[in-house]
Amino acid sequence: MDLMKILDGQVALGNKSGTKNLGEHKFWKTQPVPQLLNALTGPTEIKEGPIDPPKTPADVRQEPGQLPSGFEWSLIDITNEEQCKEVYILLSENYVEDDDAMFRFNYSKEFLLWALTAPGYYPDWHIGVRVVKTGKLVAFISGIKVDIRVRANTFDAAEINFLCVHKKLRSKRLAPVLIKEVTRRVNLTNIWQAIYTAGVVIPTPIGTSRYYHRNLNPPKLVDIGFAALPRGMTIARLVRQYAVSSHPRIPGFREMMQSDVPQVGALLRRYLSRFEVTQTFAKDEEIEHWFLSGHGRDVDGERKEQVVWAYVVEDPTTHLVTDLVSFYSLPSTVMKHKKHNLLNAAYLFYYASDVIFSPGGSSDDAATHEAKAKQRLEERLNALINDLLVIAQNAGFDVLNALTLGDNNMFLNEQKFGAGDGFLVSITWFVNWWLLISGFLSSHRIVS
Ligand SMILES: CC(C)(COP(=O)(O)OP(=O)(O)OC[C@H]1O[C@@H](n2cnc3c(N)ncnc32)[C@H](O)[C@@H]1OP(=O)(O)O)[C@@H](O)C(=O)NCCC(=O)NCCS
Repeated sequence: MDLMKILDGQVALGNKSGTKNLGEHKFWKTQPVPQLLNALTGPTEIKEGPIDPPKTPADVRQEPGQLPSGFEWSLIDITNEEQCKEVYILLSENYVEDDDAMFRFNYSKEFLLWALTAPGYYPDWHIGVRVVKTGKLVAFISGIKVDIRVRANTFDAAEINFLCVHKKLRSKRLAPVLIKEVTRRVNLTNIWQAIYTAGVVIPTPIGTSRYYHRNLNPPKLVDIGFAALPRGMTIARLVRQYAVSSHPRIPGFREMMQSDVPQVGALLRRYLSRFEVTQTFAKDEEIEHWFLSGHGRDVDGERKEQVVWAYVVEDPTTHLVTDLVSFYSLPSTVMKHKKHNLLNAAYLFYYASDVIFSPGGSSDDAATHEAKAKQRLEERLNALINDLLVIAQNAGFDVLNALTLGDNNMFLNEQKFGAGDGFLVSITWFVNWWLLISGFLSSHRIVS
């Protein structure tokens, strides 16, 4: 992809239309984000560090921003069932759709609770807008606190998510008001960097990722138009092509448990240290939250309301945890279909393996050692994803989605993921680091 052309608005992401030139962004051009096009075309080198001179919370306006008349700010207590349901309804009716309005995200209430109550979250970063007269919730934006490491720098940041304006209130410049309000509340806690992902290009992406989809239910995906039936192919052959085995194969592959938390934390941190940009997961309580708190409840021997599926490999000899692999559940509403109303999609979440760290032969030079380690990792990740596909299939998912980031290129093709038409763009906001980070957003459909 030609980044310059995308930034210049000459080329759209996926099959999206209506891209703008950076200069046309009336709101974003006033914000402390990198105006990258200038930097790329001009002679100046980008220096790593904050864009704005340092400020303190005392410099921040203490009152909320002004909303159009008839609307009011409303703090959302996401742990309150009624309020969580209100957010759920707003999003399920108005959140991200694909370009052809065939699918719309249907985040569950459990997902919202899980995603918005991570350790260290600030309840007042969960911001709603209501109609004064009726009390109806018509817009939402949220953030959680995350520790981000960019190369050698680790800093507190806000991860912004679930920006949504009711369909009837679009194009009225309400989104900038929401974005400025969450910014103000983030700044009041003395945090000055934020990150988010979007399916559109706005100033200025630090990375783009393509969605890939592993078909687990060919008849349904073809029926709802998520996947096409290639010419000359029959459904029966497609089913055979995408069949997965009935049981995981790696010895010691099992569901993650509470007692695994310290080992999983150490493994994941070590694995992520190989990347230039990551969330740090410095505390074990974060590991517990992200991998265990969304495990659902057992009702009559059945798991209900599960959001995250986390599996580890326990070495049968040493009983040490050597690998982690996980996904989360994010269904989409299938709009306008007679038979199906839900696409059960699983999204690949974090994984880690210690094979990359095992010592090589003593006679190997550095390059040979690295090549062998990469080879071992590739084999292991393929085995792990293969087993994860079994879990996803047995849990009734129709598709496993993954992005082109991390080490995913080591297994996407071999595990029969197909390229999608959805692109995910990571954007830093008031920060000029080049980042690449995964998020909770996609738009979809398998195009190849
Ligand atoms: C995204 C959404 C809130 C934008 O609201 P809107 O009514 O379309 O746009 P508004 O008139 O209020 O504001 C337009 C400004 O917001 C910016 N904007 C639009 N979508 C944005 C996004 N996803 N992230 C950040 N800024 C965004 C626009 O670029 C524009 O600023 P600019 O002139 O500097 O380019 C709304 O379209 C929506 O709810 N869409 C469905 C859910 C969704 O896509 N959420 C975002 C997920 S990343």
